[in-house]
Amino acid sequence: MSTQVEETLVLIKPDGVARNLTGEILRRIEAKGYSLVDMKLLQAERSLLAEHYAEHEGKPFYEPLIEFMESGPIVAFRIAGNRVIEGFRALAGTTDPTTAAPGTIRGDLGRDWGVKVQQNLVHGSDSPESAAAELALWFD
Ligand code: PPS
Repeated sequence: MSTQVEETLVLIKPDGVARNLTGEILRRIEAKGYSLVDMKLLQAERSLLAEHYAEHEGKPFYEPLIEFMESGPIVAFRIAGNRVIEGFRALAGTTDPTTAAPGTIRGDLGRDWGVKVQQNLVHGSDSPESAAAELALWFD
């Protein structure tokens, strides 16, 4: 398969920052060979989160997800690499840490007791279109 260099947005959610997992998650990203292009620590405003999660408005998890994302600092990364959009999502593992595969960020580090599904450590853009829109939203 030919090389396809892409950029994607990765967020370390408030649970990942609070549990001091930023370094471990970045280590896994860099060990995979992805490059760090930009990063920042921020407290996200509701307006930013509402735009970021606009496609999920009306779903039962929407409001708890926004409230959780507002609950503490987030680390945002712009990372680059070959097919990094799909690749980072594979590195992160599936949405629910309970069933995320061992070897993935959520499978190895996600807690599945006493926490909600939205506390799943990381976010990664899910398509080239959402990566472009999310990078513009969080970094530009
Ligand atoms: S969907 O509905 O298939 O598009 O869902 P998915 O792509 O798996 O997830 C979209 C974002 O919503 C979060 N999510 C949830 N939060 C709380 N409770 C439940 N049940 C739940 N299901 C999904 C999920 O973590 C995704 O957020 P990000 O920030 O992209 O990880």
